[in-house]
Amino acid sequence: MPSRAFSFYLCLHVAFVTSQLLPPFPRILGGAPKCRPTAPATLGPYYIAGAPPSKETICKGANENHQRLIVTGRILDATDCRTPLASIIEVWHADMNGAYSHFQYNDSYDCRATIETRSDGQYFLKTKFPGRYRINEKVVNSYRPAHVHFKITPLNPKYGVLITQLYFENDMFLYPHDSCDATVCTSNDTALIVSLTNFRDVKTFEGKWDVYIKPGGNGFIDSGKGGH
Ligand SMILES: [Fe+2]
Repeated sequence: MPSRAFSFYLCLHVAFVTSQLLPPFPRILGGAPKCRPTAPATLGPYYIAGAPPSKETICKGANENHQRLIVTGRILDATDCRTPLASIIEVWHADMNGAYSHFQYNDSYDCRATIETRSDGQYFLKTKFPGRYRINEKVVNSYRPAHVHFKITPLNPKYGVLITQLYFENDMFLYPHDSCDATVCTSNDTALIVSLTNFRDVKTFEGKWDVYIKPGGNGFIDSGKGGH
């Protein structure tokens, strides 16, 4: 006769295995998938084309004694929330001092990369944690929240290009304290803000962010309207 502890463990094991085999609840119940097209943001003044393919990390020295950032997720069709969109992703962000390579320091492609997703839309970004920067050096605390710029080009051209920005939970400079207007930088959109965990080590912040693009694209924010 199995002990009560063994029976309890067995129940837990069966429940876990079953949960891994079953599809998510919405599909069992026939409910409509829930997602919405990821909001666009301004391109900003610091984009340059031609960033090299991403290797292990996109900033120099990211494996040294810095805070690191790892973001993973998938690019998906916003119509059904699950059709993968294999894509080319260009990413760029400020270094830990809030400076952009090519513009504010002399290294053309530091903290910039071109990432190719897998065929299932999965991407992997590993980098230094971005620094905040001020838009107006003459205005105290006119900071932008830490962010990473994304330009996502699905290989299937019917979806169009999405330019957006990714932010991080609990940043004190998110909207309404973002010095960039919410109409062009969109840090008021909770779908662009990820929560981070430190399960690997205290200096590595990890988050998961899925992006949803609809046929015809999610629209553009005219760079002429400014923004960073
Ligand atoms: Fe920026």
